[in-house]
Amino acid sequence: MKIHIKTYGCQMNERDSEALAGMLIEAGHTMVDSEEAADVLLFNTCSVREQAERKAKGKIGYMKKLKARHPDLIIGALGCMAQRLGNELLNELPHLDFVLGTGQLHTLVPLVESIRADRKQVVAVTESAEVLTGMRTHHRHAGSEEPDFKAQIAITRGCNRFCSYCIVPYVRGREISRSREDVVAEARELVADGAKELLLLGQNVAAYGWGGNVNPPPSGVSPFAELLEELDRIPELLRIRFTSPYPTYFNDRLIAAIAGSRTVCHNIHLPLQSGSDRVLAAMNRQYTATGYRAVVAALRAAMPDVTFSTDVIVGFPGETDEDFRLTRELMNEVGYDNSFIFKYSPRPGAKSAADEDSVPQEVKEERNALLLEDLKTRVAAALRGQVGTVQEVLVEGTSPRNPERWSGRTGTNRLVHFLPVADLKPGTLRQVKITRAGGVSLFGELL
Ligand code: 5AD
Ligand code: SF4
Repeated sequence: MKIHIKTYGCQMNERDSEALAGMLIEAGHTMVDSEEAADVLLFNTCSVREQAERKAKGKIGYMKKLKARHPDLIIGALGCMAQRLGNELLNELPHLDFVLGTGQLHTLVPLVESIRADRKQVVAVTESAEVLTGMRTHHRHAGSEEPDFKAQIAITRGCNRFCSYCIVPYVRGREISRSREDVVAEARELVADGAKELLLLGQNVAAYGWGGNVNPPPSGVSPFAELLEELDRIPELLRIRFTSPYPTYFNDRLIAAIAGSRTVCHNIHLPLQSGSDRVLAAMNRQYTATGYRAVVAALRAAMPDVTFSTDVIVGFPGETDEDFRLTRELMNEVGYDNSFIFKYSPRPGAKSAADEDSVPQEVKEERNALLLEDLKTRVAAALRGQVGTVQEVLVEGTSPRNPERWSGRTGTNRLVHFLPVADLKPGTLRQVKITRAGGVSLFGELL
C-alpha cells in the first residue's frame, strides 16, 4: 500500500515516524509525499501544547472530505495525542480508523493489515516496553540513492521528571533505556550504511542507563558518558549530538567524557525553562538559577568554544515581571546561540493545569517578543565575532536558498555558506575561513 506520514512535535516524534516508515517499507509498502496519493494516512501527533493538538485535529478533520472520495482510505492517529485521548479521539473524529498510542507504535504493520482486512476501528493505547526494542528500523534514503549522512537513534523513551507543566510523563510513560549493546549495534549498522553524524534522542537523554529516579546522579558515575565513549570509538563516525538533557545530569564524569571525546559536538541544548527560582520550584524543575549557572560554567571551563541552546516558557502561572526579568537576565548572560521560547499552555492532566493560567495572552506575547529580540541581537554579535576564524564544518550540500552555494555546520552548530569546489561531498569535514557574518549564518571560503 501507499503510505503518507505527517509528523507533529519534537525530534523524538520525527524519529518515531522515520522508524515507522522503515518498518512499513520492510513490510513491502511504499511511502508517498502527497495525501491524495495515499492508501493509508498516518498522523503522528504531539500533545505538548494545546496548539499542537489543535493543528493535528484540524488536519485530520479536513481529511474527512478525502475519505468521502476514497472510501478505502485508512486514517490513523498515532503518538502522544492518540495516547492522551484514546477513545475520545474516535468520538471526536469518527472517520479515523485507528488510534495508536506511544506504547504501541511497534504494532503498526499488523494493525494496518488487520484494518484493511476487516475495516474495524481500533484503539490501542496500552503502555508497553516492547516499543523500546521494536523501533529500530530506519529510512534514510528518502528521495535519493545516497543515504542521508545524518542518523537518529532513540536511546531512552519516557520521562520520570514530572515538570508540573508537562504532559510527556503521562503520554510517554516511565523512562526506560535501551541496552548499551543494542544502541552501539544500531550505531555501527548506521555508520556502515554511510551515517557520519548521530543524534541521540531521549526525553531526558543524559539520564540514560539510570533507571528509576536518580536525580541528581552521584558524581563520578554516568552511564550516558560510558555510552558516548563507546560510540566515540566507532572509526568512521564524525560527530555525535544529543537532545534533550536535564541540566542536573551534567556531573563531572559526563562533562569530562564530552570534553575528551573526538566526536561529541561542542553545542549543548540545556533547557532552562525559567531563570527565577520561585518559578523553577513551581515548575518542579529540580535546580536553581545558581545551579544552572554552575553547569554552564563547568561546561565552559571544560570546552571554551561550547555553544548553548535552550527551551524557555514565558507566562507560567504566577510569573511576575521580576520573574521574567530574571529569566531574561540569565539568558543574556549565558548568551544562547538558539532558544526555543514557548508561551505557557495549560495541559489537562499535568499538575500546573490546576493553577489559574494567570498571565494574560498579551503579556505572554510581549515577553516572547522581548526574548526573541534579545536572541537576534546576541546571535548577530556572536556571529560577527567568528569573522576571521577558521572553522571545521561538516558539509551538508547545496544551500537551500542559493543553489550556487553549499553549506555546512560547525560542531558548535553554526551554519556556514561557501562556494563549492570539485569533488566536494556531503558528509565530509572541511576547513572554512569565515569571511562574513549574516544575521543567522556565516559565510566563508573553503581552505
Ligand atoms: N506550555 C508551554 N510550553 C511547554 N513545554 C512543555 N510543556 C509546555 C506547556 N505546557 C515546552 C518546554 C519543553 C519544550 C519541549 O516544550 O519548554 O522543554
Ligand atoms: Fe510532543 Fe512531548 Fe510527545 Fe514530543 S514527547 S511529541 S514534544 S508531547
